[in-house]
Amino acid sequence: MPPIIIIATLALLALSYAPAPAAAATTADAVSARRPLRGNDTIVSAQGKFVLGLFSPAGSSGRFYLGIWYGNIPVQTVIWVGNRASPLSDVASAELRVSAHDGNLELVGLAASPSSSSTPSVVWSSNMSSTSLPSSSPGSNTAVIRDTGNLVLLDGGNSSNVLWQSFDHPTDTQVPEAWLGENKLTGEYQTVTSWRNAQDPAPGMFSDTVDPNGSSEFFFLWNRSRTYWRSGVWTGRVFAGVPEATNNVLFNQTYVETPAYRRVTDVLYDNATITRTVLDLTGQMKQYVWVPASQSWQFFWAAPTVQCDVYAVCGAFGVCDQRSQPSCQCPPGFAPASERDWTLSDWSGGCRRSSPLACARNGSTTDGFLPLNDVKLPDDSVAVSAAQSEAECESACLKNCSCQAYTFSGGGCAVWHGEFRNLQQLYSDSGASGSPGLYLRLSESGLRDLRNAEKGKKGDRTLWLALGIALAGVAALGASSFLAWRILLARRSMSSNEKGSSLAVYSYGDLRAATKNFSQRLGGGGFGSVYRGVLKQKGKKGDSATIQVAVKKLESLRQGDKQFRTEVSTLGQIQHVNLVRLLGFCSAGDDKMLVYEYMPNGSLDGYLFGGDSGSCPSWRDRYGIMLGVARGLVYLHDGCHECIIHCDIKPENILLDEGMSPRIADFGMAKLVGRDFSRALTTMRGTIGYLAPEWISGQPISAKADVYSFGMVLFEIISGQRNSEGHGRHGNGGDEVEAAGCSAFFPVWAAGKVVEGDVGAVADARLRGEVKADELERACRVACWCIQDQEAHRPTMAQVVQALEGVVRVHAPPVPRRLQHLVSLT
Ligand SMILES: *[C@@H]1O[C@H](CO)[C@@H](O)[C@H](O)[C@H]1NC(C)=O
Ligand SMILES: *[C@@H]1O[C@H](CO)[C@@H](O)[C@H](O)[C@H]1NC(C)=O
Ligand SMILES: *[C@@H]1O[C@H](CO)[C@@H](O)[C@H](O)[C@H]1NC(C)=O
Ligand SMILES: *[C@@H]1O[C@H](CO)[C@@H](O)[C@H](O)[C@H]1NC(C)=O
Ligand SMILES: *[C@@H]1O[C@H](CO)[C@@H](O)[C@H](O)[C@H]1NC(C)=O
Ligand SMILES: *[C@@H]1O[C@H](CO)[C@@H](O)[C@H](O)[C@H]1NC(C)=O
Ligand SMILES: *[C@@H]1O[C@H](CO)[C@@H](O)[C@H](O)[C@H]1NC(C)=O
Ligand SMILES: *[C@@H]1O[C@H](CO)[C@@H](O)[C@H](O)[C@H]1NC(C)=O
Ligand SMILES: *[C@@H]1O[C@H](CO)[C@@H](O)[C@H](O)[C@H]1NC(C)=O
Repeated sequence: MPPIIIIATLALLALSYAPAPAAAATTADAVSARRPLRGNDTIVSAQGKFVLGLFSPAGSSGRFYLGIWYGNIPVQTVIWVGNRASPLSDVASAELRVSAHDGNLELVGLAASPSSSSTPSVVWSSNMSSTSLPSSSPGSNTAVIRDTGNLVLLDGGNSSNVLWQSFDHPTDTQVPEAWLGENKLTGEYQTVTSWRNAQDPAPGMFSDTVDPNGSSEFFFLWNRSRTYWRSGVWTGRVFAGVPEATNNVLFNQTYVETPAYRRVTDVLYDNATITRTVLDLTGQMKQYVWVPASQSWQFFWAAPTVQCDVYAVCGAFGVCDQRSQPSCQCPPGFAPASERDWTLSDWSGGCRRSSPLACARNGSTTDGFLPLNDVKLPDDSVAVSAAQSEAECESACLKNCSCQAYTFSGGGCAVWHGEFRNLQQLYSDSGASGSPGLYLRLSESGLRDLRNAEKGKKGDRTLWLALGIALAGVAALGASSFLAWRILLARRSMSSNEKGSSLAVYSYGDLRAATKNFSQRLGGGGFGSVYRGVLKQKGKKGDSATIQVAVKKLESLRQGDKQFRTEVSTLGQIQHVNLVRLLGFCSAGDDKMLVYEYMPNGSLDGYLFGGDSGSCPSWRDRYGIMLGVARGLVYLHDGCHECIIHCDIKPENILLDEGMSPRIADFGMAKLVGRDFSRALTTMRGTIGYLAPEWISGQPISAKADVYSFGMVLFEIISGQRNSEGHGRHGNGGDEVEAAGCSAFFPVWAAGKVVEGDVGAVADARLRGEVKADELERACRVACWCIQDQEAHRPTMAQVVQALEGVVRVHAPPVPRRLQHLVSLT
């Protein structure tokens, strides 16, 4: 039987969507005085990549904006908005035209603002002063949408003369070829500013701008004033604070300063890649890449990485809690100022008191305080030096009606007047325990409500407990419990026998108990979290033993029970010494869980990169791991009934058993998770470094995608460090930036060395040369062959095993061309 490629669904998806090539032929790409853009009309760039027209954000009910979005993907994704803050109320009367009067590009229509009249007006204009527009026949200018997404206004007298361009006025998105920076001649900045909310493109609270003082550093600002993140200066290769952003497999980022401008630009290595970087509503800059296989945007990278590092993201009185979803919460006694905005992920309005403070002119008040522990205190407190005790601090706050909270620690009293921002919830395990509490001022009725709510909760619990006891009593009386027990047993034996699979079936309760209510999280991936647990196992003679297990709680798996059971029983039959074994599963409604054997020695990333404790895996151990992983993959690709492409080979998915043998985890997920697979795959930071180029270019995925990822992992095993961290960390002890500047992406540098024949330079310096030279050479060459651009040039996993075993000779590989773009091999 020919191997069935289980990822076929993804491949089909990729094939079933082909961008309409005819569109460009029939649609114009220009607007002129003679040919304005009216109503629903759009213009499309020459190759159909971008579209200019009017759009209405979903849910904005009848507000229209001039925008640019992608023409070759089915999800409307807007990269630029003209009239951000002055929407139109009507499409039919709208017109984008070149003004015959001064040659500007202008949008005319009915403004949506309530005060405006019912006659059309100019709501947006390229707004060039008449001095910078050519005086002869300004009405002959034309506006053209280019395949980069740049809308340009061209001089009618000389079309190589760009008068105005949208790249000079970005909205919230930077696309490749566009720039952020400063035009030194006009003093204009190219700044991206977040949308106000998901339905309103008006400028929001967050912006990204180059240092106005002239350095090459970029700042993220809150309310255009307060810096909450900085990129570090350009070192000539990378921004010092974010070397990984430039360590990009997709584009070459450069900062350039000339007498006319200073700006950063990204240039794609392969202009078929679709990627964008957007300053999100959350105040984070997020990079996405379009993955044709899943027809969706994949999150790639974000800065700042932690949501709560964005200043005041939760608005006045809001609490940022990294562990909650969404991250913004209101403190007790407060509610979102606008529930609607809050649900639209616009938290800037913050929270307000559910009941007002009772504060009299003469200072008398019935207000009290609620302690909030384990919080990071808001900024901008006012020290009250006169208050020497906590009681004095409290009364100092009570005396002033504008005082909202106080803290007293280390003999110091500080209070907050008016609104406070940037309060964060911390967790003791993040080393924050003992942080001074915040005493939040609440009205008497506010405190009373909280107390009642608390009592209500306790009351409920007591009631529930009483009910439980009563029911148990009833059950004990009758034979019903016996019956129920029999039914349960019968069901269990039935399901565990199904399809001859030896998998155990567990109830939700079984696994909740085994994992102590999912308390010990081992890790998590794109598909859900993994928890440690202990299960009782019945022995043959009826004695019982306990076994350690890892329980994976699958997230967002919308699959019927029957289908799930079928898929899982297939997975259960896949057994190999280098694969983690599936022991059982649970399918209780939406709660789907997989139970695996527990691997006591963690994952390969911890083993290779973890800690500076001086432990360094020996070459022998490393070579054993390489071979083991390769053999596990051969089994997946060729040994099973159906060919299984893992699709997510990376050190985190390679576990180590008692004997330090490698076991591949998480195989078969593509089939289980189906369409959501590649979304889940790339939501994790760093994963993309292991993804073969065909993932991003939209070709069907074959087993060679695993070969590519395996090659990337080989380099990490050889060097003992993350590919993305550049070389030289263990070696010369040079500082991070220099290392990154030296070579941004390890495999590129390493491939160069391998081709030169200098494999010794590639090995982990911590091994101090204690390697087997022939094995090292083989491993390096294999790794380099595995990461070739063309699938056909990569070996099969079976060939990889033969090569590593020394059965076949490995020729010197070429340097992969695509990676070569990344760094010039100096
Ligand atoms: C715009 O398109 C919508 C639907 O495609 C249509 O209902 C509407 O009549 C169009 N309006 C104009 C002004 O063409
Ligand atoms: C054009 O620019 C001026 C200031 O330079 C500004 O006041 C005006 O609102 C702008 N007009 C439009 C339509 O954007
Ligand atoms: C058109 O403009 C370009 C650049 O702005 C200039 O180099 C060129 O000489 C101009 N051509 C004519 C015919 O004026
Ligand atoms: C710019 O320089 C001035 C004076 O040196 C300094 O006060 C200011 O903080 C600097 N601004 C930024 C954004 O670094
Ligand atoms: C933002 O800044 C403006 C002035 O720059 C100020 O008027 C406004 O109150 C600020 N917004 C907040 C929420 O602090
Ligand atoms: C891709 O870039 C090359 C030059 O780098 C250019 O010639 C080609 O037209 C571009 N293709 C597309 C589809 O933009
Ligand atoms: C303050 O004013 C309230 C009424 O507004 C009054 O009941 C109270 O006695 C006053 N206290 C003092 C100390 O004057
Ligand atoms: C309350 O505090 C504010 C801010 O420090 C101050 O301006 C105000 O004068 C104070 N009011 C009283 C009654 O002390
Ligand atoms: C990146 O772009 C810069 C400027 O265009 C160029 O000098 C450099 O060689 C490029 N690097 C790569 C790896 O393409």
